[in-house]
Amino acid sequence: MSELRILVQGTLIALLCLLLSFPPPATASPLRAPASNGSCVAYERGALLSIKESLWEPSVNLSSWQGEECCNWKGVRCSYKTGHVVKLNLRGSAHNCFRYPAYRGAISHSLVTLQQLRYLDLSCNNFNWTEIPELIGSFPSLRYLNLSYSLFYGRVPPQIGNLSKLVYLDLKTSRYNLLYLRDLQWLSHMPSLKHLDLSYMNLTNVVDWVHRINMLPNLSKLYLQQTGLRSTIAVLGQSNLTALEVLDISWNNFNTPIASNWFWNSTSLASLNLEACRFYGPIPEYIGSMASLEEVNFGGNNLMSTMIPSNFKNLCNLKILNLGYSQTSGDITQLMERLPNCTSNKMQVLDLGQNMLGGAMPSSPGPLKNLTCLALPHNKLTGPIPKWIWSLTELLVLDLEVNELNGVVTEDHLKSLRNLKMLILGKTLLQIKVSPNWVPPFKLQAVLLDGLQIGPAFPSWLRSQTGLGLLMIANASITTLPNWVWVAFSRAELVDLSNNQITGTLPATMEFMSAEIMALSNNRFTGTIPKFPRNIKGMYLQVNSLSGTLPSDLGAPLLQDLMLHSNSLSGPIPSSLCSLTQLTLLDLSWNKLTGEVPNCKEDSNPPMHNLNMIILNNNNLSGEFPGVFQSCPNLVFVDLSYNKFSGDLPVWIGAKLPYLALLRLRYNMFTGQIPIEIGKIQELQYIDLAHNNFSGSMPESLVHLSAMAHTSRHSYVLNNAINHIQGPHLYNLVFSYMFFWEGVPVLTKRQQLEFFYQISDTLVLDLSCNSLTGVIPREIGSLAGLRSLNLSWNSLSGAIPEKIGELKQLESLDLSNNELSGEIPSSMTGLTSLSYMNLSYNTLSGKIPTGNQFQTFDAYLTTLGTLGYVVTP
Ligand SMILES: *[C@@H]1O[C@H](CO)[C@@H](O)[C@H](O)[C@H]1NC(C)=O
Ligand SMILES: *[C@@H]1O[C@H](CO)[C@@H](O)[C@H](O)[C@H]1NC(C)=O
Ligand SMILES: *[C@@H]1O[C@H](CO)[C@@H](O)[C@H](O)[C@H]1NC(C)=O
Ligand SMILES: *[C@@H]1O[C@H](CO)[C@@H](O)[C@H](O)[C@H]1NC(C)=O
Ligand SMILES: *[C@@H]1O[C@H](CO)[C@@H](O)[C@H](O)[C@H]1NC(C)=O
Ligand SMILES: *[C@@H]1O[C@H](CO)[C@@H](O)[C@H](O)[C@H]1NC(C)=O
Ligand SMILES: *[C@@H]1O[C@H](CO)[C@@H](O)[C@H](O)[C@H]1NC(C)=O
Ligand SMILES: *[C@@H]1O[C@H](CO)[C@@H](O)[C@H](O)[C@H]1NC(C)=O
Ligand SMILES: *[C@@H]1O[C@H](CO)[C@@H](O)[C@H](O)[C@H]1NC(C)=O
Ligand SMILES: *[C@@H]1O[C@H](CO)[C@@H](O)[C@H](O)[C@H]1NC(C)=O
Repeated sequence: MSELRILVQGTLIALLCLLLSFPPPATASPLRAPASNGSCVAYERGALLSIKESLWEPSVNLSSWQGEECCNWKGVRCSYKTGHVVKLNLRGSAHNCFRYPAYRGAISHSLVTLQQLRYLDLSCNNFNWTEIPELIGSFPSLRYLNLSYSLFYGRVPPQIGNLSKLVYLDLKTSRYNLLYLRDLQWLSHMPSLKHLDLSYMNLTNVVDWVHRINMLPNLSKLYLQQTGLRSTIAVLGQSNLTALEVLDISWNNFNTPIASNWFWNSTSLASLNLEACRFYGPIPEYIGSMASLEEVNFGGNNLMSTMIPSNFKNLCNLKILNLGYSQTSGDITQLMERLPNCTSNKMQVLDLGQNMLGGAMPSSPGPLKNLTCLALPHNKLTGPIPKWIWSLTELLVLDLEVNELNGVVTEDHLKSLRNLKMLILGKTLLQIKVSPNWVPPFKLQAVLLDGLQIGPAFPSWLRSQTGLGLLMIANASITTLPNWVWVAFSRAELVDLSNNQITGTLPATMEFMSAEIMALSNNRFTGTIPKFPRNIKGMYLQVNSLSGTLPSDLGAPLLQDLMLHSNSLSGPIPSSLCSLTQLTLLDLSWNKLTGEVPNCKEDSNPPMHNLNMIILNNNNLSGEFPGVFQSCPNLVFVDLSYNKFSGDLPVWIGAKLPYLALLRLRYNMFTGQIPIEIGKIQELQYIDLAHNNFSGSMPESLVHLSAMAHTSRHSYVLNNAINHIQGPHLYNLVFSYMFFWEGVPVLTKRQQLEFFYQISDTLVLDLSCNSLTGVIPREIGSLAGLRSLNLSWNSLSGAIPEKIGELKQLESLDLSNNELSGEIPSSMTGLTSLSYMNLSYNTLSGKIPTGNQFQTFDAYLTTLGTLGYVVTP
């Protein structure tokens, strides 16, 4: 998890540096098919309609797909000349790229009818882990095929090699090993290919990938990130790859010397990503021949600062050097001495972040006088920031976060950095001493000063920085916020002031703010909750002293995460929450909320359709099991514990909550039978119904809970939901700000997440303290993954089933205070993981079995005799 975070951060700082230093040229969208008003071919219209039907929950709005003129339908383009459909773009929204779970469809066989297709984009859809169908190979005119992020699974059919006209092929997935391929021979049938992305595909068994790629003389961009490749070749006799500009083979374990690699002679290369490739040894001398190289990324290898070869200095054209994540150790000054030092200093971007570089920074700039981006975060640098850095008038980004740098930064230092856009000094020992009235010459876009000793006052010299997009000053001992803060930073998209000791109230309304993410958690805010910023997606206000009721209009239609736990909120949950169609995580636990969960019936939209987690424990809520959950099919995590809910657990729970993984209802007043439908919920792995008043017998169906049947179970759905709550924000941030810093959503949610993660590994069935009668289902042994089984304080009778011995993972077993009779099954000696067992207050009789855990329980078991257990020697 943290790796992902750091990776995103590292990648993004590099990206940001690139964007700031080298704004990209406007790119034309590939292969724009001519627009047509031509009339639609009838049989193709029919085919399109069956495609529409096969996408039963399309992530694309297909409402325009009706009427005769299919050429005008959204995503459809026809040929001017022939009227045939030539383009079909059903790309889901970027948000859908990372959403899970929501089944969206299959590829209809009718697709084959569209024989003239030149462009097919099905990316960002959910094909429910099906295989890419063989029919994908049957479009002889296809130029562009994009199946990325579409939850396909398994082998890529060799028929794909029939697409001989292909120019763009994107099969990137979201995770390693969803797709695999055993050879790349078919590539030789695609001589026009320019863009090939197979990132995350399992290519472990592909031999000779370089030669296969070499069959593509037009190839310009090749992405093979994390594909399980293990070999590369030193020399490519005759290279076809004269057009290759981008080569990304990062995150593969080559384990060979970096110098012996075919690509060093690829003079067309402009961008080379070798991050985390386990290359070693010195970089070859002839790297200088890569005349077009603009960007090198050597990260994630095992290089020593002194191993950077001296001939590296010949790279007088190098503009960007990214050596992040390289475990580069040694002294920073020594490394800097090996950088190219030429008459014209072109070096603009230097990224040595996430290494193990120590020592003080060099006292003179050497070749770095022209730097626009200096990123040395996450190292072990010591001493003060040297003077020359403060004279880099072109500097846009200064990132020294997480180092042992010390000393004082004053306005004298900062005043020459007139172009500075990002100031990132958090988690160092630096002190910022700037007079409150100073007006800096720069206009910052981001300031990150986490963990510095800044308080008690908020730094008022930031008042002029009204263009800030990102403000992160968490954990900085700030105790008060002046009123101007909200206005001055009203344009910031991400605000993190969490983990301070800020007192006072929130502004009366936050409507005028642009924030998408706002973390004010773990402070001492009092007063009521205002209207939120209108674009807010993540609002983190937990662990404060907010009181009053939840406003009936939060004014935040895009809200995805709302964390308000551990405050003093009272009153009911307003029905306006129903209109939050994007809501994914709602945590209102540990407040004083009363009333019922709104039923959302009056709301026309499907209410809370995206809700993954609802956490309402430790309030005073009442009413029945919330009926609104019937329209929340994506619910994974439901915690209503420690409230006053009553009534029956509805039977619809089985059909309406198919992905429910955790159901925690302890300490409520639920009654009636546990519905047998609960056994239909495939993902359910944590059931806690303790301390209610359920009656009747334990449903036999419980033993069919398949998520509990596996001994080493890792709930896919639960983990995905968990990843989802941190995932989309990362990605949203990537999309919307192009950079992200370790922080808000993760840090402020860390405890909650840790809890979730813990739970995602825990299989629990707790029905204790109810009024259950009847017997323990005989097949209880099917729940082989159970870690904890608690049926105590009920009126269960009959014998302990023999098959209980099959619960090999069981660590805790409590059957006490029931009316169980008969003998302790000898199979129970097989429960070798058991560390807690309580069978007391039953009417068990016979011999206590011996062996394994029972030996250790000896002392405990003998006391059972006094607790109603009849021991016969
Ligand atoms: C189709 O488009 C052409 C060029 O824009 C136009 O001249 C013609 O009138 C259009 N035909 C129809 C039937 O809309
Ligand atoms: C789909 O698009 C139509 C017209 O563009 C719009 O009226 C409708 O509200 C959209 N539906 C959804 C679910 O977004
Ligand atoms: C998705 O795949 C699963 C497992 O193969 C299957 O049980 C389920 O019915 C599929 N969902 C849909 C909507 O087809
Ligand atoms: C394929 O689709 C993805 C997701 O929509 C997009 O990010 C990517 O740029 C597309 N690939 C190409 C080659 O256009
Ligand atoms: C398509 O590919 C398959 C498998 O690679 C091959 O057997 C078949 O002959 C190809 N069809 C055409 C029309 O090229
Ligand atoms: C990748 O594929 C190979 C061969 O098909 C398989 O042995 C290996 O387990 C796969 N890798 C992962 C991480 O599953
Ligand atoms: C270069 O590409 C052409 C066209 O694909 C191919 O015929 C030739 O064998 C390739 N050369 C090498 C050395 O692979
Ligand atoms: C690159 O070119 C140089 C000189 O032309 C040659 O000596 C060397 O072997 C080539 N290296 C590779 C890896 O092809
Ligand atoms: C910095 O770069 C500019 C061109 O971008 C160049 O004219 C200037 O000489 C460089 N400065 C130094 C100190 O090399
Ligand atoms: C860079 O070159 C200049 C002039 O040749 C020299 O004075 C300076 O010491 C060199 N700097 C480094 C860091 O090698």
